[in-house]
Amino acid sequence: MGPLQIKEILQTSPENQSVTVKGWVRTKRESKNAIFIALNDGSTIHNIQAVAEPGQFSAELLSTVTTGSCLKITGQLVESQGSGQLVEVKIEDILVYGTADPETFPLQPKKHSLEFLREIAHLRPRTNTFSAILRIRHALAFAVHQYFNDGGFFYLHTPVITASDAEGAGEMFRVTTLDLNKLPRTEEGAINFKEDFFGREANLTVSGQLEGELGAMALSKIYTFGPTFRAENSNTTRHLAEFWMIEPEMAFFELEDNMDLAEDFVKKVITYALINCKDDLNFLQNRLAEEEKNKPQNERSIPLLEKLSFVVDNPFERLTYTEAIEILLKSKPHKEKKFQYPVGWGIDLSSEHERYLVEKHFKKPVILTNYPKEIKSFYMKLDEDGKTVRAMDVLFPGIGEIIGGSQREEDYEKLLGRVKEVGIDPENLWWYLETRKFGTAPHSGFGLGFERLVLFVTGMSNIRDVIPFPRYPKSAEF
Ligand code: 4AD
Ligand code: MG
Repeated sequence: MGPLQIKEILQTSPENQSVTVKGWVRTKRESKNAIFIALNDGSTIHNIQAVAEPGQFSAELLSTVTTGSCLKITGQLVESQGSGQLVEVKIEDILVYGTADPETFPLQPKKHSLEFLREIAHLRPRTNTFSAILRIRHALAFAVHQYFNDGGFFYLHTPVITASDAEGAGEMFRVTTLDLNKLPRTEEGAINFKEDFFGREANLTVSGQLEGELGAMALSKIYTFGPTFRAENSNTTRHLAEFWMIEPEMAFFELEDNMDLAEDFVKKVITYALINCKDDLNFLQNRLAEEEKNKPQNERSIPLLEKLSFVVDNPFERLTYTEAIEILLKSKPHKEKKFQYPVGWGIDLSSEHERYLVEKHFKKPVILTNYPKEIKSFYMKLDEDGKTVRAMDVLFPGIGEIIGGSQREEDYEKLLGRVKEVGIDPENLWWYLETRKFGTAPHSGFGLGFERLVLFVTGMSNIRDVIPFPRYPKSAEF
């Protein structure tokens, strides 16, 4: 449907047929014998080369064919004379849809820094790096839906606006229609949210899990895949204020089943990218190699494709939080007091600890389970010892936590106890608590941060570079 894209044209065998190509100029090169225009339409990392003869077009027209301008070229598709591509277009006609003044167009055929590109988020998809990332991001999203659909899961659309704080961490963005200059007050002087749009306080969701659990108590296996919001101080290379999360939730799954699913799921989704995004992954791999070429051999990271294949081909290491603490206590950085945060049973592991376990000790992805209840959310199922909960975090090299999940507390009294213990008003969660009153069942689920997955697969180092329009403190321009 619609005009042929460059990806399709490049796969056509050259039979001297007429062809129309549309796209944006990446480069124009003039030699004594020919003018070469490299055109890209974002359908593939590869450009199509179009060739004209000197004098075939007026200098005036050619002066508007500059990097960034948009063209329609008609001509003959012929076998390419140059190396690197099978076909090229012998130009017969050029129509300039839109010019891009070289004086002001910010993207020039040279390497721009990622920091600079972040400032021009409206144009960066037109670079090779970002178009490759966006295509891989798409492929991963598609693979997610395919995986769950094949596995008998139903896609549940959970609300973006909610009254509850699913993680109980108080990191919500408020949603209101109240006039901030004259907020209605109660007699006690508090803001009167009864006069607000929803008649109560409302937030952007931090997770679809609680509603997902309602779905699992009806459809058995569901997943959500939508934007989530956290007003945490997200000024790191791993945090966004708005990110996409994938949250499967399954009735009758225990922690062990949950771990099996999480491991199989990430491996299958990465495999999909390995099979379907070869050109883009190769491009990103070469880009990384280029960046590291001045480093000594032993300091260079392993090639991207090798890293991805390794994760797909090897079992993840599984151990308890308590076992992990023992390893950390025996570790060199602990003994030499090199960790910034001291290790001890009960601490919330920080990324230096997670990275030690994954990158130095096991050298592969790790699933940590049975964390102390104090450092995990209220909904996790209490272990028999009364101290730990059936939590699981999947830790990835270079990323740290990529998945967080648990078996859920299905016992009404125990859950109510935990809700009160952490200071949540049970009134606010009456609907959630009711699932434990009416036909409760063992169930489990997890959340995968989609951008952290894209970060891992693309080998990029800043999460702001794997989402089209990143949201982080002091950035909401585009
Ligand atoms: O560990 P988290 O907070 O778990 C939950 O939200 C659960 N309700 C999930 C569930 O069991 N259904 O977040 C899950 C994942 C993390 O492991 C991380 O990959 C990602 O979401 N994540 C973020 N990604 C980007 N920016 C942030 N600020 C993130 N916070 C969490
Ligand atoms: Mg977590």
